[in-house]
Order: sequence, then structure tokens, then C-alpha cells
Amino acid sequence: MDKAIKKCIEEMSLEDKARQLSQVNAVIVRAETKAEITGKDEGMDLCEADTREVGSVLNFNGAADAIAVQDEYLSKSEGKIPLIFMQDVVHGFRTVFPVPLALGCSFDPSLAEACAEVSAVEAKYNGVQVTFSPMVDLVRDPRWGRVMESTGEDAYLNGEMGKAFVRGYHKGGILCCVKHFAAYGAAEAGKEYNTTDVSERNLKEYYLPAYRACVEEGADMVMSSFNLLNGVPVNGHKDLLVDTLRKEWGFDGVLISDYAAVKEMIRHGYLETLKECAETAINNQVDMEMMSSSYIHYLPELVGEGRVKEGRIDESLRRVLELKQKAGLFENKYGETDAKRAEEVCLCPEHRALARRAAARTCVLLKNNGVLPLSAEQNIALAGPYAAEKNILGGWACWGRPEEAVSVYDGVRAALGREVVCAAGCGGKLLDKDESGIPAAVAAVKGCAVAVVCVGEPSECSGEATSRADLRIPAPQASLVRAVSEAGCKVVAVVFGGRPQVLTEIEPYCDAILYAWQPGTEGGNAVADLLFGREEPVGRLAMSFPRATGQCPIYYNCFNTGRPRVPDSIENVSFISSYRDTLNAPLYPFGYGLGYTEWELSAPRLSSPVIGQGGKTKVSAKLKNTGSRAGETLVQLYIRDRFASVVRPVRELKAFRRASLPAGGETEVCFELTEEMLRFYTASGKYESEAGRFDVMLGFSSENVQTCELILEK
Ligand code: NOJ
Repeated sequence: MDKAIKKCIEEMSLEDKARQLSQVNAVIVRAETKAEITGKDEGMDLCEADTREVGSVLNFNGAADAIAVQDEYLSKSEGKIPLIFMQDVVHGFRTVFPVPLALGCSFDPSLAEACAEVSAVEAKYNGVQVTFSPMVDLVRDPRWGRVMESTGEDAYLNGEMGKAFVRGYHKGGILCCVKHFAAYGAAEAGKEYNTTDVSERNLKEYYLPAYRACVEEGADMVMSSFNLLNGVPVNGHKDLLVDTLRKEWGFDGVLISDYAAVKEMIRHGYLETLKECAETAINNQVDMEMMSSSYIHYLPELVGEGRVKEGRIDESLRRVLELKQKAGLFENKYGETDAKRAEEVCLCPEHRALARRAAARTCVLLKNNGVLPLSAEQNIALAGPYAAEKNILGGWACWGRPEEAVSVYDGVRAALGREVVCAAGCGGKLLDKDESGIPAAVAAVKGCAVAVVCVGEPSECSGEATSRADLRIPAPQASLVRAVSEAGCKVVAVVFGGRPQVLTEIEPYCDAILYAWQPGTEGGNAVADLLFGREEPVGRLAMSFPRATGQCPIYYNCFNTGRPRVPDSIENVSFISSYRDTLNAPLYPFGYGLGYTEWELSAPRLSSPVIGQGGKTKVSAKLKNTGSRAGETLVQLYIRDRFASVVRPVRELKAFRRASLPAGGETEVCFELTEEMLRFYTASGKYESEAGRFDVMLGFSSENVQTCELILEK
């Protein structure tokens, strides 16, 4: 242990130690009276004078506020240890990038890394030392509003993207906290804050690997989640927090609880008193308590009673002080906070350019009957409530301001250098019912060759506490799409959302569908770049798109069952695993997305069709751009272990690779497939491979693959 930190710990009282292990909203530290906080925060029990001296704050207002909070705090604090400032910088600070789920669709970790780096640069000058990101919860149910914060349904992709975020934040100069440990994304029925029940095998295999990947990449903190996991609130889970995170993974950074999650163990019905909450959480090595005061109120007493060892508290304290040291706060109490630099970098042209590029590379083209790309000469009109909408920033947009964002209307006019007709037709809210504006909107666009109809869900309907029970495009917007199509215009739907929505009803009326997600500050320019073919759509789905909400949860790496529906046809329904009213397949599968050119991939070949333990083979195929434009595509490698002691999914993504080729160009795509990549938790509980037959698949989506066979010998 660093000598200075050791000395500091030795000199501190138990009361001061407990304070260092607590975090509250900055507004609470500054407020003189409870009244100042009323209405701003639910943490009313934290407003007493003795709970304002803490180790860390979250949620503050930029550089000037950070400096003022630090100064005021240090002037009153007896210990004089600087506060460490944390914030949810999730997909940008002032320059807002596409939501993380969209970044997942780039299948491009270097892009996520670049966005995280820029986010960190803007954030650090604004006083942020730690971001509560990346969020790598595996998500299979788009009813859950927080799917936007994750990079999707695949553990491998989440791990690759999570690591990229960690590298980016570090490069940009802030520390980071991976969350929400663990399995928060498995909330039953997609309902926010709901229970999760995940078998140990599924936890290990699907839910935990991405957090672990981030820890191994050097994530500085981990956040324990709100949820009840298999009957125990996560902060009460010794197996998870101590045995897995600390002992097995060797994580020695700060573990922080989610907002008030320590005290919520009472409401869960797990513990009766706040004192028990403190005892349980600290003994499970939750180093810092966010937004509840059990540590401040009870740690000293618990040590006195012998229920918590002082050494346990000192270990947590050491971690918190080391974090502050890493953030440079002992050299400079403001860290890198610098209002002038903040002003210079926020929304600077380079950051905007990256936001535009990122947005263009994360939109996914779901349908195109040839209408796209558009030509500037065409008679184009815009319609729909999201055409002129500037709040396309998505949940957790941090300091992003809608008025600084580019709408589709702005972007299309800039691209064309002329005015275009733009008619909303209806409101964009989820519960809007009014269709009376549709006839006027149809009249306005009628006669145009192409109508770009912008529909979807509002920005504020993605993120925390935004679950939906019906994922269809709201009725007035669906009616608008249909009416515009019936008026004789070609329809290009541009769909905004922080989650996969059900597009089944609008799809037949659309000539093209471009899924824009919540694309961020430069969204409108990026959409225009794609519509007019200045950029090629290269995004591929990181989450399956259901055809009906009732299919959720839906994910590509499912099991075959003993009664699979093959082929997936609506007629074939008796006594097999199927629905009576829809197909089993999603409307658009994981890995899917179109570009502007055509591709051909030959059947995969293996350099050695038989390998042994520790062995490897090369999987290769010929890729040809058979279209008339240069393009870029994503080749995906999946495997299936045909027979195993624990049944394996129908597909598992193992690798992916981007390729760019000129029209007519040809190349060989190669992947290395190792025996290690065939391992899983077998019936014996070991992580190992089992000899036998494997399907090796290469393709353009999880449902568009060609297969060859690999044999693994004992
Ligand atoms: C609650 C959210 O669940 C978490 O993701 C976030 O980091 C904290 N609040 C702090 O804002």
C-alpha cells in the first residue's frame, strides 16, 4: 500500500472512514437546508448536516459547479480529502454520440473507443473523474428501456465493445465503472427494476463474461445492480460480489452500489433494518454506498459490536483513496477540471465530425427495394413527427442539448441546398392518439416521388424507467406511413428508437426502412449522408427485432428444442415449438443489415477439418462485391456444437470481420478458429471443450450462413 494512503487511513476516525465510503448528489453537499433539495432528489434522508461530508459526489453541473462544490466541501470538511466526481457519461458528454446499442450495431470496437475517448475529454474538463459506463448488461428483451445502454444480446460482442469503451475512457483521461453487476438486463418481462432469475450456468456463460472482460481490460470500478438475483438482492450476494468478482476475477478496484440499492434491500424483503443493510453490503465488499446513508449511520457501531471488522473497512477505504490518487486528486484537488478547455473542446468541429461518422456507421438499413440511395434531383418530401425533431439524443444524453442537434429536416436541407416540404402529420409521443393531422400531411407530400417518413419513439422513452409493454410503432404514426404510401409516394421510413421496435405493421408500406436508433447530435446529417449515398449503411443488428411483442424475449443464440418448427412456416404448427399467429423467426435477425451493393460469399473451407485439444484451424471463404458500387460488409463466424453434455445453442458468434471492396472486387476472408473457442461449461461444471462434431458457419447475419463441419478429437 502507498505510504501516504496508509498514513491517511491510520489517522482517520471510524466516522470519517464511513463518510469516505459514501456518495451523494452534489446538490446535497452544497445545500444549506432540506428545502433546497426538495423536489430535486429523493435522497431526503441524506440532507442532515452529518451526511453531507462524504467521499464522492455524482450529478453536478459542469466545470464551474465542480470547482465550487469541491471548494465549499473542502472549506467545511475536517479531513480535507478531496471529493471524487462521478457522472453518467454514457454516449457522449456535450457532443452526443449514438446510443450504445447503436454503437453495438457498428460491430466496430475502434469506433466505440473513439467515441468514448472524445466523451472523456469533454467530461474531464467539465469536472468528471469517473464515468458510470460501460454498461454491458446482456439484453434479450426490448421491452426493457435500458437496452439502449447496452451493446446488445451477444456476450462476445458486449465484451469486445465494453473493452473498447474502457480503453477509450482511459485514453481520454477519465476512469470508468462497468455496470450493472450482474444480470440486471434479465429483468423479467422487460419491466424496469424487476426480478431476475438466471441459472448459474447461464450467468457464467452469457451474463458474466462481458463484465469480466471489462475488469480484465482495467475498468477502475464496478457497480452492483438493483435487482434481486435468484432470490437475493445483488448487494447481498456474497457468491457474486466476493467469490466471483474479488476472488475469482481478482478485482481490487472500487465496487459501488447502484443508487440507493443498499437500502433497497429492505424493500426487497431481504433485510429488516438499515443497519443490517450496512453490515451486509460492507461485508460483501461493496466499497461505496451510493445515495443511502447506512454506512455513515452504522459502520462505526457495527465495528464496535464486532459485526464488521475494521480491517474490512480499511480495505474499502484503501480502494477509494487509491481511486482518488489515480484520478490525480491528491496533486490537484480539481483533477483536470478546466472551464476554458471545456468550452473549447465541447462540440468542436472534430467532435461533431466523429459524431456524424459514428451515427452514419450505426444506422441499420433493414429494407430497400431499390429506392435508396436517393438522388438530389428527385422530388423529396419529409413527413412524420421525427422529421424536424431535434431531440434525437436518446436517454442518458448527459449535457447534450437538443437545440444543438441536427434534425433530419436540417440534414436533408443542408445536403440538398434547398428547402423541402416537411409535414409532421401527428405527434410522436407513445400514447398520442390524434390522427386528425394526417390528411393535411398527406396532401403536403402528395405528388412527391419519395417521402422520407420519420417515425419511432421519443428520446425520453429509452433509458432508465422506460419499459414498454407494446413495441409497435404508435398507431397514428403507423397510419401516417400507410396513408403516405397509399397516396402514391415511395416511402422511406427512418425509424428512431432506443430499442428494437415492432415494425411488422409498417413494413409492407415501406419501400425502404432505415433504423436510425437515437443517433445523437449529428443524427440528421448522418441520416442525410446515408439517404443520398454519401455514406454506405454498414450497421448490423446487435439485437433481434421481434415481429410481435409477444415473441420477447427473443435472441439468436436460442436452442433448437425437441420439436423445432422447420421450416418456419405458419402452416406447420401442431405439437411443435411455435406460435399459432406468427413465425418463430424475428422480423430482422441479429447480425442483419443491408448495404448499397451486393455480396457473395462462398461456402466456408477449413484448413484442417479435424483438430485436437489445443489445436486450431483456419476458416476461409471467397468474398465478392457483385454489385455496381464499392462497399463494406461484415462477415460473421458462428459455431454450433452438435451434441454436447449440456445442449448448445443453434448458433454462437465467435468472430466478425469487416471487409471493403470496390465493385467487382474479390478477397479471401479468413478467421482462426481455436479449440479454446469451442469451450463452454460442460455437465461437469468445467470450462472445456467436448470432442465431437461442430458446424462452422460464415455469413452475413445469424440467419444467412453457409456451413461446413469440423471434428474435434479427444
Ligand atoms: C441509477 C442507474 O441505474 C445507474 O445506471 C446510474 O449510473 C446511477 N443511477 C447514477 O446515476
